[in-house]
Amino acid sequence: MQHHSHTRATLGGKLSAVLVATGSSVGLGNIWRFPYVAGDNGGGAFLVIYILCVILMGLPLMIAEFSVGRASHLNAVGAYRALDRRWSFLGYNGVLAAFLILGFYFVVSGWTAEYMVHSVTGSLAQYTTAAEYESVFTNFISNPWRPILYTVLFALATHFVIALGVQKGIERSAKMLMPLLFVVLIALSIHSLLMPGGGEGLRFFFQPDFSKVTPSTVLVALGQAFFSLSIGIGTMVTYASYFKPETNLRHTALNVTILDTLVAVLAGVVIFPAVFSVGIEPSSGPSLVFITLPSIFNGMPLSMVWSTVFFLLLVVAALTSTISLHEVITAYLHEEWHMSRRAAAWTTTAATTLLGAVASLSVGVWSGWKPFGLTLFDLLDYVTANILLPVGGFFTCIFVGWKLDQQVLKDQITNNGTLKFRIYRLFILLLRYFCPLVMLMLFLDNLGVF
Ligand code: PHE
Repeated sequence: MQHHSHTRATLGGKLSAVLVATGSSVGLGNIWRFPYVAGDNGGGAFLVIYILCVILMGLPLMIAEFSVGRASHLNAVGAYRALDRRWSFLGYNGVLAAFLILGFYFVVSGWTAEYMVHSVTGSLAQYTTAAEYESVFTNFISNPWRPILYTVLFALATHFVIALGVQKGIERSAKMLMPLLFVVLIALSIHSLLMPGGGEGLRFFFQPDFSKVTPSTVLVALGQAFFSLSIGIGTMVTYASYFKPETNLRHTALNVTILDTLVAVLAGVVIFPAVFSVGIEPSSGPSLVFITLPSIFNGMPLSMVWSTVFFLLLVVAALTSTISLHEVITAYLHEEWHMSRRAAAWTTTAATTLLGAVASLSVGVWSGWKPFGLTLFDLLDYVTANILLPVGGFFTCIFVGWKLDQQVLKDQITNNGTLKFRIYRLFILLLRYFCPLVMLMLFLDNLGVF
């Protein structure tokens, strides 16, 4: 038990809830993944469906996960097990998802770190056309060792934050850098809107065309919402296990959800006008942002400064997310396997770095290797966001809505009756019926049952 209290002290004892949960949520999911997925799925209609998924399913689920975590004060596996033995599989699903996500997330984080370095040295400013940026990107990610170097560096940076317990420092810097990220995004979006041909991008992003929507679009939007909000995976369970008793869970969830969605929408407003202005296909996939952003900076005065600051902020946003993913696995190994916290952190770092290195090679020298028709990188991204997180979310709804003692849930949300929750009925309705039914229909439809 001594280890347990030590763990919780390592993470800074009681965490500032909104800050750390926002740190986990806001990341590459908002700025890299959201634009490419939205671009790939038709733009406007996707945005509408995405926002509905966030409000109707993401928000109730986040409150549910917070409740599970704070009610049990344990890692994701331990938390579900403590509440009901048979449900520990939900925790395992989360640990597995965290491992697989880190496998590609470290790689993309490494790309942002490399782009930051290239911004500082000015080498990114040498080019002008989108085609040039595209080949710069392709050359870079297919280099056999450079991206791996950055992947490893990023994993080590995450490791040391976790291991040294410099969480407080990260909290403090996130507090300053997060608002700065907003300011920079707003400035960039204004610049984007003024680019010639930008209007077309805005129409693409904001004018829904539902004729192109398929059930798979809805599942992709749902998966993106869960990915971006860090739910369905046990991150919010793990973090909430460190929350204070007086933290208002539903306010925290609401704030995190709003901030996270704002960042994603702003990223869309930055990216899409520029995509159309410089003539890139919005459906270019994971490379979309890495080709578009340098093209945006290029047309700006002081372009080096803008791109350095922006990629620096992106690195920090990615780091606060990788920390939360790493913590899910570390807390699990430490508490369930009784490893020391150090050993748990090192095991996590080593395993995820290895997976990351293979994922990095899979978009480069090993790109001919395509299990299930996708590169390992794409496969990790696809399987986690479109399968593991929705499945995790589905069973979380069933567990919290149907199995969990409703008094436990109520006590968590109202802080033992001291807070009012006027729409508790609606919340339960969404959690018990609406969310699981919609998800079930989506799964069945995507499996071709209908
Ligand atoms: N939400 C993070 C992002 O948008 C990624 C993440 C997913 C973090 C799941 C933790 C858990 O970048």
